[in-house]
This record gives sequence, structure tokens and C-alpha cells, in this order.
Amino acid sequence: MYANEFPLDDSIIYLNHAAVSPWPERTAVAVTAFANENLQRGSQHYPHWLGIEQALREQLRQLINAESADEIALLKNTSEALSVVAYGLSWKAGDNVVITSGEFPSNRIVWESLQRFGVETRHADLTQDTSPEAAIIACIDRHTRLLSVSSVQYVTGLKLDLEILGAACRKHGVLFCVDAIQSLGAVDFDVQACGADFVMADGHKWLLGPEGTALFYCHSTVMGRLALRQYGWHMVEDYHNYDGPHWKIAHSARRFECGSPNMTGIHALHASLSLIHEAGMRNIQQQVMDNSRFMIDFLSRRQTRYRLLTPIEEGRYAGIVTFVPLQESSESLYGMLLEQNVLCALRGGGIRFSPHFYTPRKKLFQALELLD
Ligand SMILES: Cc1ncc(COP(=O)(O)O)c(C=O)c1O
Repeated sequence: MYANEFPLDDSIIYLNHAAVSPWPERTAVAVTAFANENLQRGSQHYPHWLGIEQALREQLRQLINAESADEIALLKNTSEALSVVAYGLSWKAGDNVVITSGEFPSNRIVWESLQRFGVETRHADLTQDTSPEAAIIACIDRHTRLLSVSSVQYVTGLKLDLEILGAACRKHGVLFCVDAIQSLGAVDFDVQACGADFVMADGHKWLLGPEGTALFYCHSTVMGRLALRQYGWHMVEDYHNYDGPHWKIAHSARRFECGSPNMTGIHALHASLSLIHEAGMRNIQQQVMDNSRFMIDFLSRRQTRYRLLTPIEEGRYAGIVTFVPLQESSESLYGMLLEQNVLCALRGGGIRFSPHFYTPRKKLFQALELLD
């Protein structure tokens, strides 16, 4: 299903959506059409482009079940959105931030950089309690101001229970920040159910878009708590009034977008999301989970040769399956897979496979057979 939307070269087995996704055909068509429009007519139809931008905000709102598109800003990437949060909040010495020990550098470095304000970053060891959520919650104390986790861990593919974490944050009066780049477009995400204050994700992984156009969700009630670090014409309420001497900050999340939008990226991500909405998140999640189960079952039957880093319990994995070969180095196996045009990643000492919902089962099986 939908494999024809991805006319990848037949020699390629693409198992790398947790890194950078290929574009669907419709995205390439949209970008080509946008390029031609620029070539032939320039920005004559700019109002239409603004319509695409608004439509993208609405697609993203639906995807995460936000209350309003006004809570969604379009930023450059996940790291920028994390920085908007980290440098928007005001800190005092002795505050702490809780993260996990398995975070991608973007969701670690930015918090560690607050050390110069006397802020401590606590790394929850997810293997050290009855559950990963219990290990995280155990790190929260009365000085904790914010919890920041990725919904799905980039190395192991562990999926956290965000509703449990959100409830704990509310109970302790802690802000809740979710790096959702490894789950949006792969599995269902409901910002109202989990009660996240901030959510961020660039579009180039499971959302099937280009690099450089990211979602930043900020709950309306906490927007005012983020001081702005960038200013420009685009982030004021009446942003088409260029001549008035007075201005005020936009009431919506547009306040985080200081200048001209990335219109090429917006056209591209809008096209990619149209495919995701057409296919339906429920179907996509089903296919993604079926693929994961298929890989987990295959590798579990070869325990003398491969050790899974991905948890195998139902509900704990979500698209990413990572494993360590026991009879050779990960590097040499990775080299062999690349030679065979199996696009995957070397992460955390293991090999990470991340097929998407459209990946033909035949292709996935071909890649797994190479492991034999
Ligand atoms: C969990 C996680 N966060 C963030 C990123 C990337 O962030 P950015 O969008 O800033 O490039 C990655 C990329 O691999 C990731 O896996």
C-alpha cells in the first residue's frame, strides 16, 4: 500500500526513516511546481502560498490533536524549538531539568548549557527502576522545573508512556516538553491526552518531509512564560502593517517566527502530510508496528547471533528496531549492508532499522535475509 508513492530506485532497501526519509513523489512534484512558479511568476500568488502555510498548520494541529492551530509555530528544526523553550524560560540557580540518559544530543546539550545559570540536568537511567517512567519520575524533586523526553528513543526505539509522565508533571507542577521527532508520522500522538506543554519535531523523518521545516507546539497557557529571543516583522500581531510605529507580540505561536517563512519547506511538508492524512495515522501505525514485530520476531529467533537493543514488549516499541551482532562487529555488518544498498544506521553500538508503513514486506525480508 502506497509503495507506488515512493518510486525509489529498485536496488535500494530503505530502512532509515529514523534518520532522513525519502520524499514521496507528490512532495517532489509540489517542490518542482513551486520552483516553476517562482521561475515564471515570482511571488505573484503569495496569498495562495500563505494559504498553504495555514493549511500546513492545520494538518499539524490535527496530527497531534492540538486545540488550536494558533499553538503551532513553524521553526527550522527540533533543536531550534528546544532552544526556544530552554532560553525562553527564566531560571534560577538550584533549578533542575530532568531528561533521560538516552536522549539525542539536541535534547541534552541545550539543557546542559543552562549550567552557567546554576541549572542542573538530571539524566534518568531508564534501566534502573520498575519501568522507564518510574525511573524518570524518581528524578523529579521540588527543584525540578521541566521534564524533557523524546517520545521514542532514537537508539533503542523505546516508546515512553507520555500520559503517565504528563500526569506526574502536572502533579509536581513541572513543565513537560516532548521531542516527538521519532514518533510523529509513525505512531499516534495526542498532545491533549498526554498534557505536554511543548512538542517539537522536524519533518524529515517519519513525516516524510524535507529537512529544515519543523513543528513547534506551545500550549496556549504557557506561551506567555517563554521570553522571546528573536524579533522581527513576522512575529507581531498586525504583521502586514509595515508602516505603523507601534506593534505588539502576536497572540499566537507565530510570535516564535521572527521573519520570512521557509516557503519551499512549507510547500514540501504540506504535500508530505497530505499523504499521511490520506493514508490515515491508524493505518500507518498498524503497518509500522507490523514491520517492527516482523523484525523483532526474526531477530529473536537468532539469539545466538543478534542481541536486540529494542524492547520487545507490546506498546514499548514504535518503528525503530536496533540490534547488535554477536559474531562480528556492528561496523563490519553495517558496511556489508550499505554495500548491498540497505540504507540503515549505526547508532548506540548497534544497527538501526527503521522501515516506514509503505516499505514493501518483500524488501524488508530481503534485508533481514542478508543477516543470515
Ligand atoms: C530524538 C531526536 N531529536 C532530534 C533530532 C534532530 O533534531 P533536528 O531536527 O534539530 O535536526 C533527531 C535526529 O536524529 C532525533 O533522533
